[in-house]
Amino acid sequence: MEQPIFELRNISYTYKDKLETTPALRNINLKIDSGDFVALLGPNGSGKTTLIKLMLGIIKPQKGEILINGNSLKSFNAWQEVGYVSQKSGSFSKGFPATVSEVVLSGLTKEKGLFKRFNRQDRKKLHEVLDLLNIKDLKDKNISLLSGGQTQRVFIARALINNPAILVLDEPTAGIDAKHVKAFYEVLLRLKERNVTILLVSHDIGVVVDHADEVACLNEHLHFHGTNSEFKNLGEAELSKIYGFPLQLVSHDHERKCCN
Ligand SMILES: Nc1ncnc2c1ncn2[C@@H]1O[C@H](COP(=O)(O)OP(=O)(O)O)[C@@H](O)[C@H]1O
Ligand SMILES: [Mg+2]
Repeated sequence: MEQPIFELRNISYTYKDKLETTPALRNINLKIDSGDFVALLGPNGSGKTTLIKLMLGIIKPQKGEILINGNSLKSFNAWQEVGYVSQKSGSFSKGFPATVSEVVLSGLTKEKGLFKRFNRQDRKKLHEVLDLLNIKDLKDKNISLLSGGQTQRVFIARALINNPAILVLDEPTAGIDAKHVKAFYEVLLRLKERNVTILLVSHDIGVVVDHADEVACLNEHLHFHGTNSEFKNLGEAELSKIYGFPLQLVSHDHERKCCN
């Protein structure tokens, strides 16, 4: 059996500040295989972003262990292999004085420093990724002048410029109109053909479930992890238990959202 690309063993995480402690995740066990497209679903505040931050080493679990390709995340340093689009990317650009090309190039492996010079190969990568996301005509535009859907594609391009093996996206389609959501999934399917492992956080159940291979449902605990057809076969009662309120899963109903 091939090694899972990610393995979470009994992970728990609690936010602690002066006034209160908030348990966010409890006893999470999860394996993600290389090349899989996994959708991570859950209502607001269910710990999705926390789980991603743990998997990317941004925060450290109080309990449990995370392995990447069979090795402890603590000793992992090949971060150019991991592309990440954070939940806040879309709102980042307001008033930021940079062009689309500059923002995308800033995703290149960090060693280049602040006053970096880009060589011909860097430019080639830039054009490939702008092409993939269909934003070539925006390359000299100021990022703060773009629409939400355009900004989102710029940040996905930035996450992809190192040609990562893993792509992690935290609610990338929030606030994006239907046409761009469709284009976004087309890009993900092209990445999947290139065997990129995709972890997509969303609460857009209907759309996600039609595209992902596997679904994981989080609400402090991992309530479910299985194939997309196993997820579609879950009964209403089981889904309600996961989400904490009555919910019917209607596949192909792209209007339906599980929360918010
Ligand atoms: N920086 C933080 N400090 C304290 N509590 C936090 C912080 N970030 C998230 N939380 C809490 O942790 C829980 C999980 O949050 P989060 O992982 O952001 O959920 P989701 O991404 O599923 O909406 C929530 O109860 C949230 O209020
Ligand atoms: Mg979140």
